[in-house]
Amino acid sequence: MRTPICEQLGIDIPLFAFSHCRDVVAAVTRAGGFGVLGALAFSPERLEIELDWIDAHCDGKPYGVDIVMPATYVGKGEGDLASFSNLHDMIPQSHTDFVEELMRKYDVPPLPTELEGEQVPAAGLNVDAFAPGHVELSIAHPNVKMLVNALGPPPPDVIAKAHEAGLLVGALVGARQHAERQVALGVDVIIAQGTEAGVHCGEVSTMVLIPEVVDAVGPDVCVLAAGGIATGRQMTAALALGAQGAWTGSMWLTVAEADTNPVILENLLAANSRDTVRSRSYTGKPARQLRSAWTEAFDDPNGPGTLPMPLQGILHNEASRRFSRVGAKPLMGFPVGQIVGRLNEVRSTKDVMFEMVEEWIATTERLNGLISE
Ligand SMILES: Cc1cc2nc3c(=O)[nH]c(=O)nc-3n(C[C@H](O)[C@H](O)[C@H](O)COP(=O)(O)O)c2cc1C
Repeated sequence: MRTPICEQLGIDIPLFAFSHCRDVVAAVTRAGGFGVLGALAFSPERLEIELDWIDAHCDGKPYGVDIVMPATYVGKGEGDLASFSNLHDMIPQSHTDFVEELMRKYDVPPLPTELEGEQVPAAGLNVDAFAPGHVELSIAHPNVKMLVNALGPPPPDVIAKAHEAGLLVGALVGARQHAERQVALGVDVIIAQGTEAGVHCGEVSTMVLIPEVVDAVGPDVCVLAAGGIATGRQMTAALALGAQGAWTGSMWLTVAEADTNPVILENLLAANSRDTVRSRSYTGKPARQLRSAWTEAFDDPNGPGTLPMPLQGILHNEASRRFSRVGAKPLMGFPVGQIVGRLNEVRSTKDVMFEMVEEWIATTERLNGLISE
C-alpha cells in the first residue's frame, strides 16, 4: 500500500488529513497517515504551542503545516495599511446594515461589550505579519516534513527556505494550468482539488481534474487527489486516476477528536451531499460550505453581493461569533465538501482510518479479480 510519497515522507498510508485541530493531526499521524495542521487561525505564538503539542503526541512521526498565503487579497504587501482596523474601515456601511438586518431576523443579539472589537482570523488577514513566523516555526520543528500553501503559489523565498531545511513543499490547485505554474516554481507536491471539496475550490470535478493534472506534470511530480474522498473505494479511485495518495479535509470534522462546535456538528451529521454550495459569502473567494441563511442572503441577486478577501471574511467572522454564541442554527453553515452526505456518525480517527484501509484492500482485490487469465 505504499506509493513513492510514502517513502519520501516516511509514512505507512498515503492518506493526508488537513485539520485545524491538533488532536486530529496527531491521531492521523500516529495511525500511519500524514496529518497537516492548518495554521490560518493561529498567531505565531499560538502556532508554536500547537506544534510543540503535536511533537509531544505524534510518536516522532512526520506531519505537515498548511499556511494560507493567497496570491491576491485587499491590502497585500501594504504593511501597516493592511492593519485590521484599516481593512475593517473599508467595509461599506450598506454591508454592515445588511448583516444587522439578518441578525435581527434570526434574533441574534450584539456581542457583550467585553467580547467586542476582538480580532478573529480570516483568510487573507495578517498574512504579512503572521506568515513569515509560521514558516520559520514550521521549519524549526523537526517532525514537520511538508509545508503546504493554498490560494496560489507559495512565495519563492518560502519554497527556497523549506527546501534548504529538507521539507517538501505542497500547494493546492483546482486547474491544470495552476499545477503547471506551481511545478515551474519548484513546488514538489501538487494537491489537485476538485470542486466537490470543502472551502476554496475551482469548478472542475475531482474525476476530471486528477488525470488532467497527473498527465500535465508528468511522472516525476507527486500528485495527491483531493475533493470528495472519505472511503477506501474513493481512495482506490484516486490512485487509479494516477494520484500517489488522497488529501482529505471534510471527513475529519466529525471524528471524535475534532473540536467542532456541537451545533455545527449536528448540522454536518444531518446534511446530505446536495446541501453544500460554492459561495463567496464566507471569505470573498468561491468556497464550498453548507448552505445556510448566510449563504442564501449573500448569494441573493437582490442582496448587496460579497466583498473581496479579506473584507468578506471579516464581515462573516464577526457575525459568526454572534450567531454561534447563541446557537442560531439556520445561520450556522460551515466550510465542508459534498462528502458531508456520508458523514453521519462520530467515530474515532483510528476506526475511520482502519475502515478506509480495509475497504481499500477489499476494493483492490475485487478489481484484481476482474482480470481474466
Ligand atoms: C473546515 C475546512 C477548512 C479548511 N481550511 C483550509 C485551509 O486553511 N487551508 C487549506 O489549504 N485547505 C483548507 N481546507 C481544504 C482542505 O485542505 C482539503 O483540500 C479539502 O477539504 C479536501 O476536500 P474534502 O473536503 O472533500 O475532503 C479546508 C477544508 C475544510 C473542510
